[in-house]
Amino acid sequence: MSNLLLNTIKIKGWRNYAGENLNFGPGINLLLGNNGQGKTNLLEAIYFLSGGQSPRTNKLEELIKFDENYFYIRGEVAVGQELKVLEMGGARDGRRMHKIQGVAVHRLSDFSDYFCAVFFLPEDLNLVKSGPAIRRRFLDQELSKINNKYRNSIEKYKKFLQQRNALLKSNIEDKILMQVLTNKIAELAGPISKLREDYIEKLSLLARLRHRKISGGREELSLAYKHSVPPGAAVEDILAMFDDAKEAERKYRTTIIGPHRDDFAFIVNGMELRTFGSQGQQRTAVLSLKLAELELIKAETGEYPLLLLDDVFSELDEQRREMLLHYLSGRIQTFISSSEPVDAGNEVRTFWIEAGTIKERV
Ligand SMILES: Nc1ncnc2c1ncn2[C@@H]1O[C@H](COP(=O)(O)OP(=O)(O)O)[C@@H](O)[C@H]1O
Ligand SMILES: [Mg+2]
Repeated sequence: MSNLLLNTIKIKGWRNYAGENLNFGPGINLLLGNNGQGKTNLLEAIYFLSGGQSPRTNKLEELIKFDENYFYIRGEVAVGQELKVLEMGGARDGRRMHKIQGVAVHRLSDFSDYFCAVFFLPEDLNLVKSGPAIRRRFLDQELSKINNKYRNSIEKYKKFLQQRNALLKSNIEDKILMQVLTNKIAELAGPISKLREDYIEKLSLLARLRHRKISGGREELSLAYKHSVPPGAAVEDILAMFDDAKEAERKYRTTIIGPHRDDFAFIVNGMELRTFGSQGQQRTAVLSLKLAELELIKAETGEYPLLLLDDVFSELDEQRREMLLHYLSGRIQTFISSSEPVDAGNEVRTFWIEAGTIKERV
């Protein structure tokens, strides 16, 4: 069995790090330190290598150390016997550098073919608690990691949607352009809904199994897809929906039909967690979702991704921690950040982080 490992990382000019070189263990790597020292920044750098994205910002300049002009990250990744060197850089003038094995790559998403990580941060509780936009972003990001067809379709869809909304907001009556854009959106909407439906169905099944374990069999979790356009609907049928919505569109001056209106709900024992769940239940549901994602990535790519747990481990109760450690043991390279000591078993590598410097504790 092969699993994915990040053996070493080098970071320069990243957030509050001037320059660090680290090597990690194959099991649990514990990142300890007080608040504001750089724990999340390090996890963010690791995650960044999987596709050039940060859950905390879209702005490149925020990632560059205040007094520097560029950042650089280099990771050595092992999949079974194969070693790959991944490099990423970004400069204040907006230029970026991405290399795999020393060769420039143009599609950032190519990195996810070599390196994949699931990130669980405290603010992920918003996946259950907040409005639909955050769940749609989750769907788009996570499904794009494992499905190139989805990645291409959603990129195109967003482009056409933006143009169509701009046209609706303008006072220009361009019937031909409007028809073209409506057709494009109608063609993409059915397949996108279908891929989302399949993904949510698989996630729901896997999350339910994890959730059952964590809750000691007391809770049944499911994810329910709330779609705007029926999955796989024919183009004519979607165009008919657009026809019916003409009045409303004119009134609101925006596109009101399509996957950009989708959502999904977390249901436990028949009730929607967003409205009725306790904080503890919501937290458990998000943990189950993240573990389901790990399993799904393993099923699609053949390898478990890395797991990055930012400040969430210490929030779990004893039973949940044990379940999690047992689940991870020996299979999944995991990075756990915490401001308090954590008992994560014996096979742990511990790093102490203070004001942008990292020292391994031996
Ligand atoms: N671009 C940047 N340049 C320099 N310092 C930064 C930058 N971005 C964030 N920081 C600093 O990083 C620190 C927060 O690090 P973080 O990893 O979030 O802390 P924690 O250890 O609590 O997870 C803050 O002190 C913040 O000022
Ligand atoms: Mg933090």
